[in-house]
Amino acid sequence: TQSWVLMATARAPTNIAVIKYWGKRDEALILPINDSISVTLDPDHLSATTTVAVSPSFKQDRMWLNGKEISLSGGRYQNCLREIRKRAGDVEDEKKGIRIKKEDWEKMHLHIASYNNFPTAAGLASSAAGFACLVFTLAKLMNVKEEHGDLSAIARQGSGSACRSMYGGFVKWTMGNDADGSDSIAVQLASNTHWDDLVIIIAVVSSKQKETSSTTGMRESVETSPLLEYRAKTVVPNRVLQMEEAIKSRDFASLARLTCADSNQFHAVCLDTSPPIFYMNDTSHRIISLVERWNRSEGSLQVAYTFDAGPNAVLIAPNRKVAGLLLQRLLFQFPPPPESELASYILGDKSILH
Ligand code: PMV
Repeated sequence: TQSWVLMATARAPTNIAVIKYWGKRDEALILPINDSISVTLDPDHLSATTTVAVSPSFKQDRMWLNGKEISLSGGRYQNCLREIRKRAGDVEDEKKGIRIKKEDWEKMHLHIASYNNFPTAAGLASSAAGFACLVFTLAKLMNVKEEHGDLSAIARQGSGSACRSMYGGFVKWTMGNDADGSDSIAVQLASNTHWDDLVIIIAVVSSKQKETSSTTGMRESVETSPLLEYRAKTVVPNRVLQMEEAIKSRDFASLARLTCADSNQFHAVCLDTSPPIFYMNDTSHRIISLVERWNRSEGSLQVAYTFDAGPNAVLIAPNRKVAGLLLQRLLFQFPPPPESELASYILGDKSILH
């Protein structure tokens, strides 16, 4: 028998929502109850790198995450693999004498290796980078011709927020109306060069895995929080329009106001869930107070904060100068470990993430 291996590698960054996705209307297809907007980070800092390989000698699909083998039997992986295989094209590598016809992909097995350069499942959206990267790399290996938007609908079935990592810059995930989810896709609002003065700083408050997964948390909020319905139907649609306008006109004060308000409402929904979900801790609350006090004393918005399903703070500054001042204030309030609860700051050049 012939023996060869064909490989593809790609890297995808994570993204941070400034208008949050929280709540599904369809759990299997991962369809959300509201639109969301995010900013994609620079891939040098928080990203996933994935290599996929195909060979006639592989006996089954297998995957390693950060060097440890994980099961691919979950619905999320199976959905992504199935959808990509369906769209696979003919692949030829003349030099190696390899020819794979599109119908052959159904029978061929894959080996997948993925690495995150940041803590997994600590509320730093590792699944967003991971599934975006997986889908993109598979599409590359299998010569899938779909546009980024269509690939985003596949990445969405791995992890909702993953669809937004298919683009750089500012990205909107439109909730869509179709029952099959084909219009629940990511669209780019502005490229990564549109607003490149912005600096994003991540204060790692804890790199422990979160206690309530976003899947469980969302399900419980949808079932029990009256605030969530009000948020999704009444608050978010207006906020999305205002945020799009703020991004278009590079209006930092509006971006900051909307980002903080939306993070706070998301965590209010968590508290409104029964039993209540606490993603932020005392350190997170102290960071919010620090930023709020600073913004108030300056009489204008200097910095925005936002928190996902974990205690880590994502802080957005309008430029490097303000980012430097912010780091000074953070270090003053939270002197470095071991005394502090803040396990690590991402310092020096590495702290300045675009
Ligand atoms: O895609 P998931 O299931 O990891 O959910 C992400 C949810 C939040 O990070 C809290 C909000 C968001 O829009 O990214």
